Amino acid sequence: MQDKLFINNEWVGAASGEMFNVVDPSNNQTVHQVAKGGPADVNAAVNAAREAFDNGPWRQLTGAERAIVLRKMGDEIAARTDELARMEVLDNGKPLPEAVWDIEDTAGVFHFYADLAERLDDDAEEEIVLGMEGFTSKAVKEPIGVAGAIIPWNFPMLMASWKVAPALAAGCTVVLKPSELTPLTALELGDIALKAGLPNGALNVVTGLGPDAGASLAEHPNVDKLAFTGSVVTGSNIMAVAARDVKAISLELGGKSALVVFADTPIEEAIEWIMFGIFWNQGEVCSATSRVLIEEPIYDAVMARLAEEASKIKIGHGLDDGVLLGPQINKAQQSKILNAIEKGKAEGALLVCGGGVPSGFEHGCYIEPTIFANAPLDGLIWNEEIFGPVVCVRSFTTEAEAIALANASEFGLAAAVMSADTERAERVAHAFRAGIVWINCSQPTFTEAPWGGYKKSGIGRELGVWGLNNYLETKQITSYDNSKPWGWYIKG
Ligand code: NAI
Ligand code: MG
Repeated sequence: MQDKLFINNEWVGAASGEMFNVVDPSNNQTVHQVAKGGPADVNAAVNAAREAFDNGPWRQLTGAERAIVLRKMGDEIAARTDELARMEVLDNGKPLPEAVWDIEDTAGVFHFYADLAERLDDDAEEEIVLGMEGFTSKAVKEPIGVAGAIIPWNFPMLMASWKVAPALAAGCTVVLKPSELTPLTALELGDIALKAGLPNGALNVVTGLGPDAGASLAEHPNVDKLAFTGSVVTGSNIMAVAARDVKAISLELGGKSALVVFADTPIEEAIEWIMFGIFWNQGEVCSATSRVLIEEPIYDAVMARLAEEASKIKIGHGLDDGVLLGPQINKAQQSKILNAIEKGKAEGALLVCGGGVPSGFEHGCYIEPTIFANAPLDGLIWNEEIFGPVVCVRSFTTEAEAIALANASEFGLAAAVMSADTERAERVAHAFRAGIVWINCSQPTFTEAPWGGYKKSGIGRELGVWGLNNYLETKQITSYDNSKPWGWYIKG
């Protein structure tokens, strides 16, 4: 496992010489130490990225040439799937099959953006029809410059790829600041970049703390674009800092997404997706459907089956067979979730199952799958992102009521609807004020499709061509046909 910073294609220690602990949340043991990058290291990384962008070869290459390198990165990640997935389990705690899924997706993201880089050779210039004779124009897409990527800990390597791959595909150079809670796989990207032949300075990885390394990356005047995934508070801070230099930003923040289940949904299907929507990845998912609305006629039946199935989820170490719920990321998140559960009880919500640390798992950051019924609509548990395996369920009687309840949130990342009536499902899907909407499922995520939120859930879209556009500027080049004198000052 790497323990240094990756700057200008070299492994270097932090300028301060300091390190910080990498902790396994299944037992709170320190498993490794990595360099604690600070402002001086971020400055070195940004300068390397700046130099690489301004004078290096990366953006001068054709898209097809960049695609060769990106494809190699994807291949190398795919070849190391098992090893990288195990590293992710050690660092994040998630069950191995989830980690394997993440790494396979990560490789897929690099392959996808390799294809888009190639297509850019044809797509980068678009003719524009002008309404005045004698003028012709075209819109040209160009890389935006040095991109600063600040990412969270819930899907460590995958979140790195959502920013690094499209940025590199566009011809940008990147400084990546992974979460201090999960730095391991992001550092491996350095090794992967070297093997793939990425030129000096095109990708730099600086591990370190948020208010230190993260803040200095956000503030750095030589960064042209910031891409952030994480909490609303930090995202809002970054937006304020970016305002000073008018940096381009994209933000993917929190959510409190609703899943609306109509009575014509097969009960077992409903149970599967309600559970997947909140218990997958320990509920540490920005798009988790943490508010579930069930149509009255099937409410009691769904609740009974849900509590039964949730209590059966196998909790344990991410490497143990059959485990579907690992520990939360750290003690602070575990305490935050336990506090939210206590608040929910105090607010008068009915605790249907779970609600505490599972017995026998006191050594790690575990939380039982937890279900609340009848949470008050104006309370914390119904409105605030908990980011753990905690779901609030309520019943509804009309479609209009369900839509109103789903949309009554300061967030608008995702929403889901289940119904056998496809017209109704489509109608409700359109009525949701959210950037990602699922019909008859919750959470499946595709590299080709746009990802991002309405309202406080963020700004901009990642993935697909939208993700590439985040890292492109648009320039117009307009030509005048001199044979027709303009004649404003110089009369022809
Ligand atoms: P955070 O937003 O503070 O951390 C995310 C990233 O931002 C990390 O890399 C961190 O080092 C960096 N960061 C922190 N402070 C910074 C600053 N001042 N300037 C620049 N970068 C900074 O999130 P945290 O504390 O890990 O989790 C808190 C809550 O955020 C969670 O309970 C959850 O509700 C939400 N969250 C949402 C995520 C999402 O996918 N939308 C992912 C992770 C957390
Ligand atoms: Mg960790």
